[in-house]
Amino acid sequence: MKALVLAGGEGTRLRPITHTSAKQLVPVANRPILDFGLEAIRDAGITDVGIIVGGTHAEIEAHVGDGARFGIRVTYLHQPAPLGLAHAVLTAADWLADDDFVMYLGDNLIADGITQFVRQFRERRPTAQILLARVRDPERFGVAELDDTGHVVRLVEKPQHPPSDLALVGVYLFSSRITEAARSIAPSQRGELEITDAIQWLIEHDEPVASQIVTGWWKDTGKLDDLLEANRIILDTIDRRVDGDVDADSDVQGRVVIEKGARIVDSSVRGPAVIDSDTTLTRTFVGPYTSIGAGCTIVGSELEHSVVLDGVTIQDIGRMEDSLVGRQAHVVRSERRPRAHRFMLGDHSRVDLP
Ligand code: G1P
Repeated sequence: MKALVLAGGEGTRLRPITHTSAKQLVPVANRPILDFGLEAIRDAGITDVGIIVGGTHAEIEAHVGDGARFGIRVTYLHQPAPLGLAHAVLTAADWLADDDFVMYLGDNLIADGITQFVRQFRERRPTAQILLARVRDPERFGVAELDDTGHVVRLVEKPQHPPSDLALVGVYLFSSRITEAARSIAPSQRGELEITDAIQWLIEHDEPVASQIVTGWWKDTGKLDDLLEANRIILDTIDRRVDGDVDADSDVQGRVVIEKGARIVDSSVRGPAVIDSDTTLTRTFVGPYTSIGAGCTIVGSELEHSVVLDGVTIQDIGRMEDSLVGRQAHVVRSERRPRAHRFMLGDHSRVDLP
């Protein structure tokens, strides 16, 4: 069995971060989201992994390399344009050959990994096996309609009037029949070959499509609120470890990771939180559910429920919550006259002032 990991796509819902980096490499608890997926695949006993890459291929390849670090063997497959998940399957068709495979969307996070689902697929050998999760906003996803006995009767992609609250999770198990389905469907309204439509094609051709409802958490991290929630969920699983320097005037409470080379000066950190190497906090409060990357300088501020990437400077800004701050950003209070907000924001940035 192989794994096909999708790490292309434009990440439009995480702009401006995704103008300069791949959405699958945005970190939660200071680790790229993609790492969790690759580890789940390895833990399920799959080592032959194809990664679909697009415009951000250089960054993905630089990070994952040949996969040895993750205990897998990686082949990169270039998708010329983000034309849909079923198009990605067709892009990979030669590499997949006749093998069964798990398709894993690189921006999805799933509790408890995928080992159980892979085992069930191997035992039952349906043509496809899908995972479903109950969500509050099914119109944002592929949605399944089940009959009274729990069989999938219909799948629709992002319906205006969802037939249920069961969303398709971005982890699918397929036999090679899926390539024929992907070849047989037409592009959707958004101009993509939808995997949802390809599985619907299998259903219409009386192929067995098994489904399972996921009870643990699952997150598609494609937008800010979901990314912050994923960060929260992962931070809830960390153990305390303080390898950096904490001075006598500082206070570090609860489950906090402070990496080597980090310095906490006259500050409070209340976990769960992670602070990466070579970051310095001075006269700062870091509250629960905050991840701060490496090489940041944070002075005289309060941060909570936020993700701060590497190399960021934050100074005397008061309190910041529910935020995602991209690499090397500067957020500082200045004494310059006239007193005013001064911005240099990337395209699609968002600023909320109190
Ligand atoms: C894709 C699929 C959708 C699925 C979702 C899971 O959506 O098209 O059916 O529910 O992933 O993350 P997209 O992220 O392309 O909008």
